[in-house]
Amino acid sequence: MTKQKIKKLSGTLKILGDKSISHRALILASISIGKSKITNLLESEDTMNTINILKDLGIKIVKQANKWIVYGHGTNGFSQPKKALDCGNSGTTARLMLGAVSTNPIFCTFIGDNSLSRRPMRRITNYLEKIGCKINLTNKENLPLTIKGSQLNLPLTHEISKPSAQIKSAIILAALNISGKTTIIEPKKTRNHTELLLNYLKVKYKNQKLNSNGRKLIFNGPYEIRAKNIYVPGDPSSAAFIVVGALITPNSKIKLLNVSLNKTRIAYLSILKKMGGKINIKKTKNRSGEQLGTITVFASSLKGLTIPAKLSPYLIDEYPILSIAASQAKGITHMKGLDELRHKESDRIKSIDGMLKSFGIKTKITKNDIKIYGSPSKKVKCNRTIKVYSDHRIALSASILGIISSNSVKLDDDGKSMATSYPNFRNDLQKLIMN
Ligand code: S3P
Repeated sequence: MTKQKIKKLSGTLKILGDKSISHRALILASISIGKSKITNLLESEDTMNTINILKDLGIKIVKQANKWIVYGHGTNGFSQPKKALDCGNSGTTARLMLGAVSTNPIFCTFIGDNSLSRRPMRRITNYLEKIGCKINLTNKENLPLTIKGSQLNLPLTHEISKPSAQIKSAIILAALNISGKTTIIEPKKTRNHTELLLNYLKVKYKNQKLNSNGRKLIFNGPYEIRAKNIYVPGDPSSAAFIVVGALITPNSKIKLLNVSLNKTRIAYLSILKKMGGKINIKKTKNRSGEQLGTITVFASSLKGLTIPAKLSPYLIDEYPILSIAASQAKGITHMKGLDELRHKESDRIKSIDGMLKSFGIKTKITKNDIKIYGSPSKKVKCNRTIKVYSDHRIALSASILGIISSNSVKLDDDGKSMATSYPNFRNDLQKLIMN
């Protein structure tokens, strides 16, 4: 199929609210006491799953004008749900909500879609069971699962074995309702939105730096958190798609307003700059504990590079779109240590490989590393319908390469999965397209 040639991307966009922060804002508002107004909440399928589950647990949540109002019941305030809690496609909903309900004396069933039902849950439930709740997993690992919260929750020390903000946040949410000292050791720092929101909500806990670049968090619960209004900054992971779109489309210049510049989330901008990307980052305000800023991007000639395994926790959601940048960079990009990509919404090593091959781009997978052989001078053409495995980040990434493709890109889900994290992607892109 032929398509009209896109000359450049140009203009200014305000990116939708951050997905990770939206989940946390909703959950922390629900376990605060009183009314919180949340502004710029991401309204996507994933965050709607969290809203619906909190409602099933007896929390009143309403939308008024453009704000979401949450009437919190405190850290021990969830009621017995009448039906199974449906997390849909959302790993963050499942993992964080497990932590949040685990110390409440209620019985819950957690379910999810096919993709989520294949993803590992024992990485969370192992810790929660030690605290006191009883959990029954399907195949000892997956959803559907049942969880029976205990009245007697133990204050313990937990050392997290793999870098995961979801594991850390689940234990934090449990710790807020445990009498006594819960210590959480994360050997390698991960995204810290839960901690930043807790600071903003004036929750007192210790946050110490470890030599290993990790953190030690010490909570002394139970806590009474006073409700406060929360502002959600723009999602840097959604911004990443537009940033790469502008870098690879000749003559582009775009500006993204209001994006979270949280250091645990914008490592991809440093990588793209190292690849030769012309990107300016300007800090603006600090709101609800998070640094906001403006990102300006110019079309650039990119070159390949090696991305070491130690950076993987900070790039985990951006590898699919980085693979698109790599495909248009001169030379080889070697992404190392991508083991955790196997456990995302799809096996992203496989889905990235399949996506690039659909465009005729050469790749080489060795165990959990990917090599991408970029060739910016070659005409981009999509040779077959792309299998996105219902994975939003694959659908979004393939669509970005579609901007410079000579033919139209067809996704096997027609882009439905984009609603998981970036429901207005097509509108945003349309605003920037200059034919
Ligand atoms: C998230 C943490 C990351 C990330 C996911 C969202 C979060 O997962 O991939 O999209 O909001 O805490 P892990 O913590 O499992 O690495």
